[in-house]
Amino acid sequence: MQDYHEFIQEILVSEIDLQQRIAELGEQITRDYLGEDLHLICILRGGVLFLADLMRHITVPHTIDFMAVSSYGSGTRQASGHVRITLDLKEIIQDRNVVLVEDIVDSGYTIDSIMKLLEIRNPKSLRVCTLLNKVERREVQVPIDYCGFIIPDKFVFGYGLDMDEYYRNLPFVATVDPARYRPDI
Ligand code: IMP
Ligand code: MG
Repeated sequence: MQDYHEFIQEILVSEIDLQQRIAELGEQITRDYLGEDLHLICILRGGVLFLADLMRHITVPHTIDFMAVSSYGSGTRQASGHVRITLDLKEIIQDRNVVLVEDIVDSGYTIDSIMKLLEIRNPKSLRVCTLLNKVERREVQVPIDYCGFIIPDKFVFGYGLDMDEYYRNLPFVATVDPARYRPDI
């Protein structure tokens, strides 16, 4: 694999800005769930760094769980409801206050589908917390309760987000120069 320095365009959100905003989100969630039960659901794999940092700033007692989905069709965006659960939750969410923790909301189909799948399990409440929000790309409206950063319509990587599954470990979010990126086949 290439070193990311070879194809990075710019750092869109620095490590300092990420960590400061994540602390604010954690404090906001803490205030909103004071005295309440709270269950965080991380959408794998992109949300994993965000969950780990966010939960360190949530000081009300809470539990976590993980789920993974994949879209039907190869690379094509499908109508809402068309995601397949590839890893289901371990815990029952009935009567729990659930917050979905996502890396990015793009077209909105993924979150919309996940919300439909989870709503039929009768949680007490269901909210969405996304680190990044590509508002311009939205095709289906989804309620976003907590949002880290609104970003432009550019492909980004780092801090959980991948380029062909690599580079999730980087502590910042960066844009790609497509002319300089050579995917390994
Ligand atoms: P949506 O269903 O179009 O909202 O897509 C959301 C999913 O697409 C995210 O969970 C990411 O996995 C992926 N995604 C969207 N934009 C990007 C990006 O710029 N970089 C990396 N992954 C992305
Ligand atoms: Mg994702």
